[in-house]
Amino acid sequence: MTDPLPQPLARHPELHGRRVVVTGGASGIGFATAERFVAEGSRVVVLDRDAAGLAALASSLPGLAGAVQADVSDRASVDAAFAEVDRLVGGVDVLVANAGISIRHRFLDITPEDWRKVMSVNLDGVFNCAQEAARRMVAQGGGVVLMTASTNGVVGHPFYADYNASKAGVILLTRSMALELAPVVRVNSVCPGYVMTPMQQAEYTPQQLVETDAKIPVGRHARPDEVASLFAFLASDQAAYLTGLAIPIDGGELAGGLASRDWIRVGPAPAS
Ligand SMILES: NC(=O)c1ccc[n+]([C@@H]2O[C@H](COP(=O)([O-])OP(=O)(O)OC[C@H]3O[C@@H](n4cnc5c(N)ncnc54)[C@H](O)[C@@H]3O)[C@@H](O)[C@H]2O)c1
Repeated sequence: MTDPLPQPLARHPELHGRRVVVTGGASGIGFATAERFVAEGSRVVVLDRDAAGLAALASSLPGLAGAVQADVSDRASVDAAFAEVDRLVGGVDVLVANAGISIRHRFLDITPEDWRKVMSVNLDGVFNCAQEAARRMVAQGGGVVLMTASTNGVVGHPFYADYNASKAGVILLTRSMALELAPVVRVNSVCPGYVMTPMQQAEYTPQQLVETDAKIPVGRHARPDEVASLFAFLASDQAAYLTGLAIPIDGGELAGGLASRDWIRVGPAPAS
């Protein structure tokens, strides 16, 4: 399929020089987001737990201001990482709290350890980074906190009960923070539907990909750079009146719940 959209263009001049922290920026949506903010002229620091992925950024994203190894689920690691961000760029104007994991399993098979693992990255991790960033933003008198939630935080999807609950938590964290921190800090989350990241691609057989695309109203997965474009807009001054939102970017998935209801054709969960 040919790409229907051009590659990201620098469209928000006010983002030039802004200090942007992207978690989970070594891969997928986070990488595309870091790439987009670098293209906008922002000073971007990526936080990720993947040492090899961070090392690869030196050649794939040479404009980065920093690549810091951190586990977002570990508060001490996050505190140390933000101290390093302070050292590298002198603070934070925009946070994109994006790092997340998912495990495909039946609800009846979820172990307490699985549950805690997903919650600790997807919800604790967003809290840890959002609080560190927001403290700096309140002290300096402004900033934008953005988070990656999911359409899975809006409607139920089988085999991802822990993930779905974590993303619903991110959406309510967004709204609650937005109320407390307005008008100094704007807080929004994005809710991607199906995004073609390397991890997502690896989960599909060719047949499953065709069937899933057929159920998405626009007929395809999102590209990571399309989600990055939404983050750039939300960070920009054009979004000055937007806060407390959880914005779907889903090719129409939530308009009818099509993809989530027809799950049986995507294939059963692994045998328990
Ligand atoms: N791909 C999709 O279809 C899709 C849809 C909706 C929401 N999302 C969400 O988008 C975000 C990014 O997903 P992706 O598809 O780009 O995944 P990905 O696996 O390509 O990237 C996730 C990145 O997060 C990092 N990470 C994971 N756990 C971490 C931790 N504890 N500390 C620091 N870094 C950690 C990984 O090393 C990786 O670089 C996630 O929050 C995911 O839930 C993805």
